[in-house]
Amino acid sequence: MSTTSIDSLLHEERRFAPDPDFTARAVAGPELYARAADDRLGFWADQARELHWHTPFTQTLDWSNPPFARWFHDGELNVAYNCLDRHVEAGNGDRVAIHWEGEPGDTRTITYSELTAEVKRAANMLAGLGVGQGDRVAIYLPMIPEAVISMLAVARLGAIHSVIFGGFSAESIRARVEDADAKLVITADGGWRKGKVFPLKHAVDAALAAAETDVTSVVVVRRGENDVDWQHGRDVWWHEAMSESSEEHEAQGFDAENPLFILYTSGTTGRPKGILHTSGGYLTQAAFTHRSVFDLKPETDIYWCTADVGWVTGHSYMVYGPLANGATQVMYEGTPDTPHPGRWWEIIQKYGVTIFYTAPTAIRSFMKAGREIPLAYDLSSLRVLGSVGEPINPEAWVWYREIIGGGKTPIVDTWWQTETGAIMISALPGVTTTKPGSAQVPIPGISIDVLDEDGTHVGMEAGGLLVVTEPWPSMLRGIWGDPERFQETYWSKFGTKYFAGDGAHLDADGDVWLLGRVDDVMNVSGHRLSTMEIESALVSHPIVAEAAVVGASDDTTGQAVVAFVILRSKKAKSVSATEASQQLRAHVAEQIGAIARPREIFVVAELPKTRSGKIMRRLLRDVAEGREIGDTTTLTDSTVITVITDTMR
Ligand code: WTA
Repeated sequence: MSTTSIDSLLHEERRFAPDPDFTARAVAGPELYARAADDRLGFWADQARELHWHTPFTQTLDWSNPPFARWFHDGELNVAYNCLDRHVEAGNGDRVAIHWEGEPGDTRTITYSELTAEVKRAANMLAGLGVGQGDRVAIYLPMIPEAVISMLAVARLGAIHSVIFGGFSAESIRARVEDADAKLVITADGGWRKGKVFPLKHAVDAALAAAETDVTSVVVVRRGENDVDWQHGRDVWWHEAMSESSEEHEAQGFDAENPLFILYTSGTTGRPKGILHTSGGYLTQAAFTHRSVFDLKPETDIYWCTADVGWVTGHSYMVYGPLANGATQVMYEGTPDTPHPGRWWEIIQKYGVTIFYTAPTAIRSFMKAGREIPLAYDLSSLRVLGSVGEPINPEAWVWYREIIGGGKTPIVDTWWQTETGAIMISALPGVTTTKPGSAQVPIPGISIDVLDEDGTHVGMEAGGLLVVTEPWPSMLRGIWGDPERFQETYWSKFGTKYFAGDGAHLDADGDVWLLGRVDDVMNVSGHRLSTMEIESALVSHPIVAEAAVVGASDDTTGQAVVAFVILRSKKAKSVSATEASQQLRAHVAEQIGAIARPREIFVVAELPKTRSGKIMRRLLRDVAEGREIGDTTTLTDSTVITVITDTMR
């Protein structure tokens, strides 16, 4: 983020005090902060006891071997039982768990009893295919109920799921299936997106053909009804295997530290890292934050989180948090503007959504499209709005409150990461006086700080690096198969304080303003992408000699991928710059997925480097954002910049 935008952010003076009526009925109150301040571990133990334990825990935290934490480790629970059976046993089986809306307009309503029965069946099916505790199951599905059912069925068996976002390519699937050494893959023939069926299974087929893998079965959900290739002996139709499986399945308790899932995310190197989460602590914090940050009243609320299940927000706030709390939620398969630009608002009106959680990118694109689109729908059921994934600029925040929230709903801007597992910094509705653009305060039980490079607290009205100073229940337990990278990435800079990789500013009240990543991770439409990963994809193409990628600020997507490439001289002669750019954009989509496809690719003769040979990304960012080029005195050859800007015209 540029200095000017930080300045304007910090001059934001608007404040929104909680409505007293809201406060009177709020789930959260100031006593949560008091209890956590008085006895942090006791506070988390209270929250954990909201869950059902097959064997109660007696130890809250074991931090004797940092950074390897164990939470509630002598207790046993079953994550799926907590999300399903216990609600049915408490007499809430008829409550709707999921109002599912397919993109073409087909719908399914699934109660807690029905969801429990489906998950039990799926658990039996997976067990029949050889899945047991600790086995890895890769899930590559569209936004259909089977995605939730699969995750919970894997969890029920004490196995580990690795959900792969449906937009990722065959190559990305291959890398993830290999890294996690998955035994089974669950996919679909295809799913609906932008009015068309997009095929999925063929990517799994290609990934497995190229992978060194022990995958023995591929379970295929029928959704797109598109043609698929079939490998007999390996491929199984979901509906056939499910119909042969029993609906009886008793959930067994597993250690609180039994791994629950791996979720790959981009880091600073080319290779995505498998973030590992475990059971008891993760579920405790996902459920607690979902309840208190969204003011959830499970009997009456209709909750909707628009995130895809392939991202951590889909894991914690579409699957585990809401279902552990017995919430009723909406799940939508498609894109916001299909078949018309008001689809989301139509869904809110149709189901009477009361709590809505989405990303700033979506809000900004709706702002651009015009307020008349949402205003054509009745959005009066909404009472809490949430934002996640990237900094929300004050204008978008205020628009969200005014236009979507009718000028009355509290907005919670929630900061967290794949690594943190659950929300860490957020206002609490009914408690906090909110400030547009600031995520504000750590939630009760979480301790954070902002440090300078030397590890010293920056003080008020100063900026630095965000850290979490104490272990928290839903913290990542490691990087799959790579404990050294885990230590190195998060724990080498400030010892036992977790280094988040985000810049932050504390204002005069001590409230936190997030300023974006300080490393080579980009945030495009709330999705994390690594500059290195895209650079390696580019240089893997035969016409590319060298590549540099930067995240340029973008009005809608927050950041956009912009690449600068030098072509190999011989090959370059045969392609025009436009052709090269087209080929390379397609190549990146194929290597990683469409989300990583650069917005622009500039073919250049040279890249600006310092005398020591480091690519000057700051300069490239200036060029990509159309700014005047700053100080170039450290460049080896300042004519390089002229070359680049000339090529752009
Ligand atoms: C960014 C998504 C500002 C941040 C849950 C973080 C945010 C990265 C916010 C994690 C927010 C997330 N304000 N920035 N409210 N929420 N971020 O792992 O840079 O996909 O490090 O998790 O998104 O992205 P991830």
